[in-house]
Amino acid sequence: MKFRWSLLAVCLSVAAVAHAEGDAARGKVLGYTCHGCHGIENYKNVYPTYSVPKLGGQSAKYITDALKGYAGGDRVHSTMTAHAASLTDAQRADIAAFFAASPMRTAGPPVGTAPAAAAVCVTCHGNDGLGISPDYPILAGQHQDYLEHALRDYKAGKRKNAVMAGIISGVKDEDIPALAKFFAQQKPALCGTEKVRDKGKCE
Ligand code: HEC
Ligand code: HEC
Repeated sequence: MKFRWSLLAVCLSVAAVAHAEGDAARGKVLGYTCHGCHGIENYKNVYPTYSVPKLGGQSAKYITDALKGYAGGDRVHSTMTAHAASLTDAQRADIAAFFAASPMRTAGPPVGTAPAAAAVCVTCHGNDGLGISPDYPILAGQHQDYLEHALRDYKAGKRKNAVMAGIISGVKDEDIPALAKFFAQQKPALCGTEKVRDKGKCE
């Protein structure tokens, strides 16, 4: 009996995951406006100036979480809040399924030597920044200045996430650039959304 219940629980959770998965074909159409920033190489946000994050190859779960964060106020960015708020949950999942493209796999040993401060990061983000599961954003190949910006936002409490808030409180300001540099240089790398639009994947 016990066995059956656990089997049922597994089936239910699989069904829940399947339901949450978006439709990439619909996402391609819905995500058209996103290329205006996420699909232009080295496009910058201004005031403050930093690179618009790469979304190609990113974990679909993280993309939907981030959109929910903007819509709900855990993350603040005027344009992104407007975009995210105009989408339904199903539309966010569709766009996320399209941009996530095919899952990225470990290419080999990490590129370069991890700074000492990265020891805590790899338990969730992996040695190569690909994340130990889709629950964690992929950091590999993300713009270095964006990673730095994100880490400083967590530290300043501008970006609210209980997990990263706890982690970043133990990281020294002067260690942030080396952490950002290390994860930005990892491979396989995230890409601009134009690559996914044009080729269906990052490479
Ligand atoms: C006007 C430019 C612009 C447009 C258009 C735009 N974005 Fe963004 N997006 C940004 C910027 C800038 C950020 C980083 C904001 C921050 O610092 O939190 C961002 C962040 C994001 C993030 C979080 C990424 C991460 O690594 O944390 C997601 C997900 C995202 N955008 C999805 C979308 C989607 C989906 C669309 C289309 C519906 C879209 N964006 C349209 C500029 C834009
Ligand atoms: C216990 C798991 C865990 C650990 C350890 C951890 N992270 Fe994270 N990290 C997360 C989660 C979950 C998120 C997504 C949070 C959100 O939605 O804002 C995240 C988000 C991030 C982001 C934002 C990515 C983006 O695209 O905007 C950066 C950068 C980051 N982490 C870097 C680090 C660094 C550097 C360390 C080590 C000092 C670290 N993390 C340690 C779980 C972790």
